Amino acid sequence: MTAMLADGHRWLGYLTFVLVLGSVVFAFTRARAAVAYEDGFPRIVGLVLALQVVYGLVLYGVGGYWDAAPLLAYVHPVLMVGAVGLGGVATARARDAAGDAASWQAITRFHGLALVAVLAGIGVASAV
Ligand code: HEM
Repeated sequence: MTAMLADGHRWLGYLTFVLVLGSVVFAFTRARAAVAYEDGFPRIVGLVLALQVVYGLVLYGVGGYWDAAPLLAYVHPVLMVGAVGLGGVATARARDAAGDAASWQAITRFHGLALVAVLAGIGVASAV
């Protein structure tokens, strides 16, 4: 059961990373072309990040990972919760930004930071 959940979490985790990377590229190109800001895709990315954290919490509880190595038991979850927070900041800042390019720039910046957190989180989990 735990192994199956862990497999699903791993592959969805890699997919989440690719999605956040896609969002950074998407927002960067739209900022440069000053395309009208729409929050659909950035919000989907934020939702996927949040769902993956919920999945992680379920896996953590079912598998009793609090006894695992600290990198997995504490550092991985903290980095990933941080990534979700950055996703929320991204859409909030984009909504309040003055102009379309500024909105896409906010998404580029904060999804870029979320991408770094997700990459670091995957790195520490796979180092264990
Ligand atoms: C954006 C959120 C998250 C992403 C993208 C993510 C991604 C991943 C990935 C890719 C792995 C496999 C690493 C590897 O072995 O190469 C992993 C492992 C793991 N994650 Fe997450 N994770 C997220 C959030 C969380 C949270 C919030 C928790 C716990 C509260 C958690 C608990 C775990 C655990 C326990 C494992 C080890 C599973 C095993 O035994 O292989 N994850 N995660």
